[in-house]
Amino acid sequence: MPPPDARHPELLAYRSEFPLLSASVYLNTCSLGARSERSRRRLETFLSDWDELGARAWYRRWLDELDELRADFGAIVGVGGAEISLAPNVSTALAVVASALDPIHRGDPAILDRLRAAGVATGDAPRPRVVTTALDFPTIGHQWLARAPLGVELVVVPSVDALTVGLDAFAAAIDERTALVATGHVLYSTGAVNDTAALGRLCHERGALLLVDGYQATGLLPTDLGASEVDIYVSGSLKWLFGGPGMAFLRVRPELRELLRPTTSGWFGSARQFAFEVDELDLAPDGRRYELGTPSVPSAAIARGGTELVREIGVQRLCERTRDLGQILIGLADEAGLAVRAVRDPDRRGGIVAVAVDDPKPVVDALAADGIIVDYRPGIVRCSPAFYNTEDEVRRLVERLVAHISEIAGAVS
Ligand SMILES: Cc1ncc(COP(=O)(O)O)c(C=O)c1O
Repeated sequence: MPPPDARHPELLAYRSEFPLLSASVYLNTCSLGARSERSRRRLETFLSDWDELGARAWYRRWLDELDELRADFGAIVGVGGAEISLAPNVSTALAVVASALDPIHRGDPAILDRLRAAGVATGDAPRPRVVTTALDFPTIGHQWLARAPLGVELVVVPSVDALTVGLDAFAAAIDERTALVATGHVLYSTGAVNDTAALGRLCHERGALLLVDGYQATGLLPTDLGASEVDIYVSGSLKWLFGGPGMAFLRVRPELRELLRPTTSGWFGSARQFAFEVDELDLAPDGRRYELGTPSVPSAAIARGGTELVREIGVQRLCERTRDLGQILIGLADEAGLAVRAVRDPDRRGGIVAVAVDDPKPVVDALAADGIIVDYRPGIVRCSPAFYNTEDEVRRLVERLVAHISEIAGAVS
């Protein structure tokens, strides 16, 4: 059966906004989204504001620019900008959040009481454990491994099929010692979508909190954090927000936000940032509570090119086209006899389609020599068509993938 056409061909008009797309067949958005001309224009405005205004640019432009970025990130995940905390990367956001969870690990009665009042059935005992999965991005686990000297224990749930982690596997790992479950909305390694609603309910029944790493989902899967079971959400601009490196964000559910007190802080997190009180730290009541120091304004300018584009197109259309291209890729790869490692149900798949290859690096290098850009992780070639890719590009990828896999296997045997 020939693969269906991808919906939303009108989105191909956006291709001319991305210089990278005329330089290569770019199928690696899950590593780094392409850069749009809007980002260049916004960066140029940042530079000219700097030249024209010097430090006055902070008050006349840049603080507003940061607020607008908070509002953009918030709108894309269904909440107001005041709920968003900016961070330079997900790891920093996680470090701040992790510092606020230490009293739960220790079993501090004051915080457990307050959590109960916020509807989380914690019980009275310490909860030293954080649960993540074998398919999650390493920085998730590393945050809590780094806290081992404080008594924090990391539990890593295995994946039975090397593709997904089922709710039953999470259920077996979450108990009265679990403070937090931390996992991706879309797993970066396989593109599988976690059922965050069911997982949130499970966590809350057992008195644990749920942290979702949305990096592979934000801008790609419609997300309404306001109506979700997610307690803590982290994400960033680099991938499906087409906003380059240097900007990430955190959102803590409002009922928990003031209840959790980070012990890693900075003046952007202060309720009275411009009062310059060195001897007092009153944390801001809104999302800025979890911010540290001066954000990278050029990164914010570049990121806003991407958020503007995502808001203009809408996450629903981005999702539909991306999933269609993924489905076409899976169909062609199946037909060609490649070992596809992807969730078949498009509703349970993000923007990643992996093909199992024993030694993927030479294959990825040979594709790059053909002008086709994908990447690899251990044992897989990782492909991620985005809304701006064409069906022909996907077809060409499969043809060259088949050719290189057989050449390289032939060279080995
Ligand atoms: C799922 C996921 N989380 C986090 C990150 C990055 O974390 P950080 O912003 O700390 O570099 C990535 C990729 O870079 C990712 O794919």
